[in-house]
Amino acid sequence: MKRLLLRSHSHSRSSCATWVKCLGASLLVAAGLAACGEGGGTGTAAQSTGADRVFPNPTSPPPTLGDFDGDFAAFMAKAAALKPEIMQRQMALLQLRYDLANRAEGGPASCKTSRGKPVQTGVRVKTPPGLGFRELAGMTPAAIKDADAFPAGFLPLPHPNHPVGGMVFPVSSIDGIKRQTGRDLTRFDLDFDLPEHLLPEFPPAIFLTTRKDLGDVSRGQLVTTENFWALFKDILNPKQLDGLRLLLTPFPQQQFNLTSDRNSARPSLGVACFDCHINGSTNGATHQVGDIRPQAMRNRIDTTSLRGVAMQPIFGSQRGLASVEDFTEFEQRAAYFDGDPEAATRKGLNPLERGSQVHNMAEMQKILDFPPSKLDPLGKLDRSRATESELRGEGLFFGKAQCATCHSGVAFTDGTLHDLQVERFFRHRLINGQQTKDDGPIKTFTLRGVKDTPPYFHDGRLLTLDDTVEFFNLVLGLRLGDDEKQDLVAYMCAL
Ligand code: HEC
Ligand code: HEC
Repeated sequence: MKRLLLRSHSHSRSSCATWVKCLGASLLVAAGLAACGEGGGTGTAAQSTGADRVFPNPTSPPPTLGDFDGDFAAFMAKAAALKPEIMQRQMALLQLRYDLANRAEGGPASCKTSRGKPVQTGVRVKTPPGLGFRELAGMTPAAIKDADAFPAGFLPLPHPNHPVGGMVFPVSSIDGIKRQTGRDLTRFDLDFDLPEHLLPEFPPAIFLTTRKDLGDVSRGQLVTTENFWALFKDILNPKQLDGLRLLLTPFPQQQFNLTSDRNSARPSLGVACFDCHINGSTNGATHQVGDIRPQAMRNRIDTTSLRGVAMQPIFGSQRGLASVEDFTEFEQRAAYFDGDPEAATRKGLNPLERGSQVHNMAEMQKILDFPPSKLDPLGKLDRSRATESELRGEGLFFGKAQCATCHSGVAFTDGTLHDLQVERFFRHRLINGQQTKDDGPIKTFTLRGVKDTPPYFHDGRLLTLDDTVEFFNLVLGLRLGDDEKQDLVAYMCAL
């Protein structure tokens, strides 16, 4: 019995008797969208729907290798045929929630990414018909909940195919990595969902704490196994070089591996840390958190930047791991395989040696710096370079808007987790196969270099800095004016 229970907590795909059944389940959810998704606006039909009522009984044993080898080609064909419908469902959800336009005008003129691209502007989260953010700000959380008026874009964002999950890479990264290394991170069953213009600049710049004088050491290139030696041999010590080599080396993972239990057309050597943490920052690649069960309740997670990890005390949105070394081990041992040691053994776990490999990888990560800012040595805006709007934003940040209650210190994080209690504003529901739940305590993410790393929040539910200000205005009851909101955005751009 215990074994059965354990099985019921294993990886999504393994939870179904066969892969096909699992796909069937995701279609079932797709079909149910009209009745229980957020699209209808009322969200009543699916309130407090238990995941088990929608998904097949998750206690069946995982498929054996025999199942996979039997008809990989047939499975792939079936999954590929279903892909358009799954993507359509997800894109419909995004359209309902957000203005997805490619728009970088109207914000602070100086708001550019570290390599000079204008940052996307404006509030992208849509409000319910007849209600603007101003009206919502005048309502209590209970009244918003009763009227089901919480903007849909403030709700948890599901994975592109929540019932199945797994790593999904934006197309710019897939193309760049394939061009340089020949490795193909395309999934036959799924594509990344958010449009490229709402993702971080590709490839991002790299700044080193050890060589501030050099500026962007990526020289505008995507760093892979192909060019890392030429780019870094003269500026890193041998330990750091070895760490970087390992951060760029692919290791087997749940969706990308050499068995036929995979989601790539051809057998894959796996993924590298820097496939997601591209150039030590992020490309917005997504995944699901390994810790939560059942599958429907797992959080989508947006790749965090590794810049400035040396200046932060805890790691992971909810794990609170105490060191970069611990998180490096955790990524490979647990996150790569959805917290399922059985799958890891079958597909090829690559345990890293703590005393050498893990330390070298961590040492390399710890010299990744935040991008240049307008801050002075005390962490306040340099008045000789800051605009009026940025200075007003700083005043609000440390004053009326109370942001610094949590975003404090050198990295603009208090180094702990906070429960924002967003569930005060909405009733739980099923959204494209994700069962919403109380988020609970989440890491206060750093705000240094934040303009470079959209989308925002642990699941990427917010697309612009303007969205984050609207979110906190409502959730913290701040009652900020329109000009004040813009000043806060301008300030965050300067960090
Ligand atoms: C699928 C893309 C992906 C890959 C591959 C990946 N990561 Fe991550 N990484 C993430 C995501 C997503 C998070 C955020 C986790 C969370 O929210 O709990 C993260 C978080 C981290 C953090 C914590 C950052 C913080 O500020 O809390 C570290 C450190 C890290 N990863 C290192 C690594 C290392 C080392 C590797 C390779 C062994 C790796 N990652 C591989 C996506 C990835
Ligand atoms: C009570 C603590 C708290 C306060 C006050 C607070 N934040 Fe945050 N902030 C958080 C937490 C926790 C997260 C992560 C939320 C999540 O991922 O679900 C976060 C995330 C963010 C992010 C996204 C960072 C990223 O990389 O994804 C931005 C931007 C942000 N906050 C800006 C602000 C601003 C601006 C204010 C003031 C108006 C503010 N915060 C006030 C705790 C706080």
